[in-house]
Amino acid sequence: ARSPSMRDAVLSDTYSETAELANIDWENLGFAFLPTDYMYIMKCARDGDFSKGELQRFGNIEMNPSAGVLNYGQGLFEGLKAYRKEDGNILLFRPEENALRMRLGAERMCMPSPTVEQFLEAVKATVLANKRWIPPPGKGSLYIRPLLMGSGAVLGLAPAPEYTFLIYVSPVGNYFKEGVAPIHLIIEHELHRATPGGTGGVKTIGNYAAVLKAQSAAKAKGYSDVLYLDCVHKRYLEEVSSCNIFVVKDNVISTPAIKGTILPGITRKSIIDVARSQGFQVEERHVAVDELLDADEVFCTGTAVVVSPVGSITYMGKRVSYSDGGVGVVSQQLYSVLTRLQMGLIEDKMDWTVEV
Ligand code: COI
Repeated sequence: ARSPSMRDAVLSDTYSETAELANIDWENLGFAFLPTDYMYIMKCARDGDFSKGELQRFGNIEMNPSAGVLNYGQGLFEGLKAYRKEDGNILLFRPEENALRMRLGAERMCMPSPTVEQFLEAVKATVLANKRWIPPPGKGSLYIRPLLMGSGAVLGLAPAPEYTFLIYVSPVGNYFKEGVAPIHLIIEHELHRATPGGTGGVKTIGNYAAVLKAQSAAKAKGYSDVLYLDCVHKRYLEEVSSCNIFVVKDNVISTPAIKGTILPGITRKSIIDVARSQGFQVEERHVAVDELLDADEVFCTGTAVVVSPVGSITYMGKRVSYSDGGVGVVSQQLYSVLTRLQMGLIEDKMDWTVEV
């Protein structure tokens, strides 16, 4: 349900502070949480519908210690970005895809979810209310984090009786500390992030807690992140903790097919279309770990990581390097087309961007 009066009231209330950029160091944004002005909150009962959401001053939320999300991990999140254009307009990238993915995930996690319209309206209202935190053109983006959680109290294992949809935002720059330089991955072959029939294909919070142990160990050894293999054959590439993976060989770009254990990334899907439009052949299929030995380039995709070139991958103690430590030409080309589209710098023939 659209609520223009609430949105307009908040915007006029905060107009003076949203008109100017926040006073922060826009040159050195990484990917760390920075509190902003407003968050959006909407609640509903287990068998009800989300109806009336509202913007509130950003701050801590209260929750029953017995909440489903705290006790049994009944929660989902999304991630999308808003870019500020030179002409002052603000662009979102395929936000309805996030809304639809949240609805699919909610179904898997036994939660009610906002409609696509409610999701979009809430995202737009939250972005506008926090406009001063959207980085200047070329300096980064406003990362938008929608959450859906079982906020009602449970004790025995069951879906929570009440749900909360919340959106907060934070200005961000590059995800990896390497910035735009290539990242270094290590393949994990003992621990797995997903199993067939499990929840690897939805953006549930537990998938991310499950990869922290291997990620911490990898970082302690100097790697940027971990690449997972399928848990059945321990042979096929799945994804990196926070992003999807692509392998380039000549004119063919291959990526693991979506089959329930891999997150269906919106950047992944977009890069497949962008690559095809640039004349590459793209294959979604089983990609065996041995193919890494022979690849010309490897890169990762995700909302947070955008397109991140991979400089090396280590597997069972052996390291394979790509593009002589630099950014591969294909990764660079796809990064450039995608980000120029997202920032409104080239014609959006696919109709992917949405003005706030
Ligand atoms: C994103 O790319 O937006 C994600 O949700 C991944 C997260 C680990 C930062």
